Amino acid sequence: MAVKARPPGDRPLKTLERALSKAGLGSRSEARRWVGEGRVKVNGRVAGDPDHWVDLERDRITVDDKPLEQTALTYLLLYKPAGYLTTYRDPQGRKTIYDLLPDRDRYLFPVGRLDLDTSGLLILTNDTAFAERLTNPEYKVPKTYLVKASRVLSDEDLDHLRAGIELRDGMTRPAIVTRVSGNKFEMTITEGRNRQVRRMVEALGAKVLKLVRIAIGSMTIGDLQIGATRELTAEEVRKLRGSKT
Ligand code: URA
Repeated sequence: MAVKARPPGDRPLKTLERALSKAGLGSRSEARRWVGEGRVKVNGRVAGDPDHWVDLERDRITVDDKPLEQTALTYLLLYKPAGYLTTYRDPQGRKTIYDLLPDRDRYLFPVGRLDLDTSGLLILTNDTAFAERLTNPEYKVPKTYLVKASRVLSDEDLDHLRAGIELRDGMTRPAIVTRVSGNKFEMTITEGRNRQVRRMVEALGAKVLKLVRIAIGSMTIGDLQIGATRELTAEEVRKLRGSKT
């Protein structure tokens, strides 16, 4: 049987047949049979095609009028290496963070983005409310970066970063900046604008040679190896949920 072309877009969609078998209800051939018997509905309508694309987040799927089990909320912490895109699929076939996940079929999305050349902590989840809280600047969840600049920034430069820098999308909030040594410093910001750290450093006439996100809230890299993932603890999730300052 011909499978329909995958629709465009970045969302991880599944065929209805696969969604049903993935939910643990039965084999793919059983799933096809249920569809053929008219027992499966998508958004209240009897589904006629097991190869129909469905979005597990948005579409309501029932079998014999019973909804598919809600998948458990998952929170993964990835130590992203440089050289991986924060995207689901890359038309040019470059490596993405999904190549590093233990189960690519599990639907998770990244909370914010790290640039291709940035390494460090990235959370992936299927909890949209949690992700919104972490990325919404109103909640001021601090993110700390270790920055290696192309030159030694003067004390005055660091004071500029602390006070806030005028970027084309407006003034940045004050940052916490600590010199580590020579051209390396740590900077904690509470916004997540596109390429914000790089642009702040570039506004001082320097470049970022290396950028690592070393903390999100109070969560640090700890023992996590580069390229590896671990589940967040319930305590970490609770703390990140409550980070409004
Ligand atoms: N700021 C940047 O400039 N890049 C990142 O990847 C994250 C923060």
